[in-house]
Amino acid sequence: MKRAKVTIIGAGNVGAACAVAAAQRELGDIILIDLPELADKTAGKALDLAQCGPVDRFDCKIVGTGEYDAAADSDVVVITAGIPRKPGMSRDDLIQTNVKIVGSVSEKIAGVAPDAVLIVVSNPLDAMVYTTWKKTGFATNKVVGQAGCLDIARFRTFIAMELNCSVEDINALLMGGHGDDMVPLPRYTSVAGIPVSQLIPKDRLDEIIKRAKMGGGEIVKLMGTSAYYAPAAGSIDMAEAIIKDKRRIFPCAAFCQKEFGVGGYFVGVPCMLGANGVEKVIEVELDADERKLLDASVAHVKELVGIADGFLG
Ligand code: NAI
Ligand code: 2OP
Repeated sequence: MKRAKVTIIGAGNVGAACAVAAAQRELGDIILIDLPELADKTAGKALDLAQCGPVDRFDCKIVGTGEYDAAADSDVVVITAGIPRKPGMSRDDLIQTNVKIVGSVSEKIAGVAPDAVLIVVSNPLDAMVYTTWKKTGFATNKVVGQAGCLDIARFRTFIAMELNCSVEDINALLMGGHGDDMVPLPRYTSVAGIPVSQLIPKDRLDEIIKRAKMGGGEIVKLMGTSAYYAPAAGSIDMAEAIIKDKRRIFPCAAFCQKEFGVGGYFVGVPCMLGANGVEKVIEVELDADERKLLDASVAHVKELVGIADGFLG
């Protein structure tokens, strides 16, 4: 039986953490690719991780390189190449640099792994998913962005902290772009099936929602760079759902044409992930307030895509 192959582009903080998570879940062989001038460093990270195998008990071939040939026939490619934000920067400030990086990486991947499902992580996320789709020419279901898995993980963590209960029992939904205007949906959030509104008073829940929306910035302020453990965990949850055809339902940046009236953009929506990538986008009812918030977030995504298009030429 052929082993699955997961390639991770960008072996920095998020990329390396993705490789660790993929190895610990024994998803398959793992290829880490970074710039050619960093090939030795990337090979060293791969070797170091391979040497966790006997301790963590995983059997994965792990390669670190600057060459894209190693990614041939990958099942899933996770794109983390690009600069992260520093304190005082927004994700949008990264667009000019990252369009170029993600664009060039996408072209190379399309050449060696034309059947892969691509999970984009680089920021600003929704515009980078669009960039990858444009540059690869892949079918829309084969290109998806990771943001919602992270954003709901933050929301779930803060709810568990508030209730002093297990994070495992919290189920949440969030939509929109991966910006501070993302839309957590408390109406679709429950604790062991109990609507969260019955457990946390509205004013306190509003504060938790605000903290979740600003969760990326909170970490940048503390660390001087952006988060990586939770973003990697979310990305590899998605990779696992695809490789194992689990048909799990996550909020991801997926292509929406008529869905939610988006009109041909990648934005965060609930979707089912399986062997074909995005198997389907799941439409949910939104009330007038939720709809207004989603429309504002989608408008922001459209603006960023327009800017990305300008740099793509
Ligand atoms: P990092 O600086 O630690 O790593 C980025 C890596 O990309 C570096 O190793 C760099 O050498 C590499 N790289 C740059 N150009 C490349 C190219 N042309 N080909 C291959 N590799 C290249 O940054 P970090 O923290 O890993 O973040 C990476 C990206 O992910 C950033 O844009 C960040 O904003 C984004 N991010 C997105 C999240 C999300 O939820 N969508 C969460 C966290 C970070
Ligand atoms: C985050 O939300 C930087 O997008 C990344 O942590």
